[in-house]
Amino acid sequence: MSIAALIVAAGKGDRLGGDLPKQYADLGGKSLLAHSVDAFMAHPDIVSIIVVIGQGQEDLATAALGGRKISGIVTGGVERHHSVKAGLDALSGSGTDKVLIHDAARPFLTTEVIDRLICALDEADGALPALPVVDTLAFGGDVLGERVDRTGLLRIQTPQAFRFDAIMTSHERWNGEIATDDAQMARAAGYTVAVVSGDPALEKITHASDLSLANDKIAASRTFRTGLGFDVHRLEAGKALWLCGLKLEYPFGLAGHSDADVALHAVVDALLGAIGEGDIGSHFPPSDRQWKGAPSDLFVAHACKLVAERGGTIEHVDLTIICEEPKIGPHRNAMRERLAELLHVGIDRTSVKATTTEGLGLTGRREGIAAQAIATIRI
Ligand code: CTP
Ligand code: MG
Repeated sequence: MSIAALIVAAGKGDRLGGDLPKQYADLGGKSLLAHSVDAFMAHPDIVSIIVVIGQGQEDLATAALGGRKISGIVTGGVERHHSVKAGLDALSGSGTDKVLIHDAARPFLTTEVIDRLICALDEADGALPALPVVDTLAFGGDVLGERVDRTGLLRIQTPQAFRFDAIMTSHERWNGEIATDDAQMARAAGYTVAVVSGDPALEKITHASDLSLANDKIAASRTFRTGLGFDVHRLEAGKALWLCGLKLEYPFGLAGHSDADVALHAVVDALLGAIGEGDIGSHFPPSDRQWKGAPSDLFVAHACKLVAERGGTIEHVDLTIICEEPKIGPHRNAMRERLAELLHVGIDRTSVKATTTEGLGLTGRREGIAAQAIATIRI
């Protein structure tokens, strides 16, 4: 059994407006299209994904896919059903038995809906998700007309699933009228289409207000993650002392990896910890000579990039530097500013504190400086 997903993303998004066709618009850190691609990629039964785009949208689509590996991109047509046909043609001969045809404009697709559709194809040639109509329906313009009985009416969503031969035949036999979905074509060709429970979250993004509501929903559903970083470096005479991205006047400096900025190393480990990405040593091995003397700014930039790639934003970083000397107080504000600059956040999202260990232990004996940091990421 080979099941393919066919995502149509060749529309212009006229009703939504804006600079980009809506399927390429950003929704919580990734494009609408990428949301649907990810939903299909996450489903174990979907073996291939074809995306249908508009003429000249290649660069937009590549950017919107953000490196996701799909089975193919093809060019669609003037109407949605032309675009679907282009995708079906691309799948033809690939051994696909079943296909789920989906609007890129419906980003919130769940595994449960996909499961219900695939299951329904055991009994029917096609299946679609639908919801009952709950509002009162009526004809009307400026003045209200006759009420329409809503009993038995359905709001039809996508993906719509079909046995591949059935939907291919339906498209080939279609009379050429504009079809807003594929199930009507399958029915016209005499195939059975089962109805499964849809999902309110699957509603299509049509107008600008739909997109802003969807963005609000994503913002509300994001969670917080925290990561903890800790580091120690040895103090040595005659070395430059780098602390939290600043060079301080002090007769001793820190020895070790890169410029040995113990404070930034703790911050990097905190950021990596929050996204489960190992530690600074796994990204920048101390044995690798290219990092000898390197500014630790580079490591912070790398960690920030990894956070952003996961759709995360840095909410706050709290740093504590542990040493008897030098006194951190006079540098605290400059350190906060530098940290904010390196993290590309406002200064109010950074905190720099300092403490001694009351003369005890390695920092008390002034053998080294330690630092710990906690990063809070919204993801
Ligand atoms: N679609 C397509 N090819 C077309 C028209 C539409 O692939 N010729 C796709 C759209 O990209 C969208 C889905 O079909 O994912 C549903 O269409 P719709 O919501 O109408 O999107 P648009 O046609 O882009 O929007 P509008 O009608 O407002 O221009
Ligand atoms: Mg349209």
